[in-house]
Amino acid sequence: MGQKGIKEANYGNWVSKWLLYMPAATAIFFLGLSVVSYLFIIVAVFFLIIFAYFAYAYFKFLPAGGDLQTKIRDLVLDHLKWSGNGKALDIGCGNAAIVIKLAKEYPQALVTGIDYWGGKWGYSKEACEMNVEIEGVAKQAAFRKASASSLPFEDNYFDAVVSNFVFHEVKDSKDKREVIREALRVVKKEGVFAFQDLFLVKNICGEVDDLLATIRSWGIRDVKFVNTSTNDFIPRLLKLPFMVGSIGIIYGTK
Ligand SMILES: C[S@@+](CC[C@H](N)C(=O)[O-])C[C@H]1O[C@@H](n2cnc3c(N)ncnc32)[C@H](O)[C@@H]1O
Repeated sequence: MGQKGIKEANYGNWVSKWLLYMPAATAIFFLGLSVVSYLFIIVAVFFLIIFAYFAYAYFKFLPAGGDLQTKIRDLVLDHLKWSGNGKALDIGCGNAAIVIKLAKEYPQALVTGIDYWGGKWGYSKEACEMNVEIEGVAKQAAFRKASASSLPFEDNYFDAVVSNFVFHEVKDSKDKREVIREALRVVKKEGVFAFQDLFLVKNICGEVDDLLATIRSWGIRDVKFVNTSTNDFIPRLLKLPFMVGSIGIIYGTK
């Protein structure tokens, strides 16, 4: 609940609670062992530093800490060159933050969110449905449980498709390029797309130039890449590759 008992949407945090609890519990464990040898204190301090790092990231992602998550999500829609007429899809929608943004920015649009849910973040279909009610866009939104590796939609179905921080997480597809191909399959001819992920980590989708050439070879008319990790609003400490230091957006028109 927010001020005066008004319910607020909960969009969760990309730093899962597990990333906080695990190093904290391990640090306490080794602190306990320090009665056996003081060397365990060094190990405990190491895990305390890991805990402090993720606690800092958790805070920076929150609205109270600067709302980094919202700023990073906004970059996706900034690169979606859409009129707003028709149907949009958000792949791996989490708690529907981007679905709600799309619905508000494009009041004529119908927006679908799909997600596998049930993972470490605690996102859920119920939370999505509650959030769209709270934000007053329930009539424009629908949610389905599905995997990004096999979307339950026919070819060329959506006018606009977006995704944020999902492709690298898709466990049921070894080749993450195939997940991108599946996302593009459901975009209409002349439809638009914008996908943000850790595209600068080479072992996820390979070299960016090579990835763009592959996407063009699938018949995509216009595809571009922008490195979004260099944005000034991202704190230097969070620009590590496994955080948001290797993010970029692949966007264009099919
Ligand atoms: C870091 S969260 C990002 C959530 C959301 N896009 C956002 O911007 O807040 C990663 C999301 O990917 C989803 N996910 C992981 N594997 C998936 C899969 N195979 N298919 C669909 N969604 C998946 C997770 O459930 C989670 O909601």
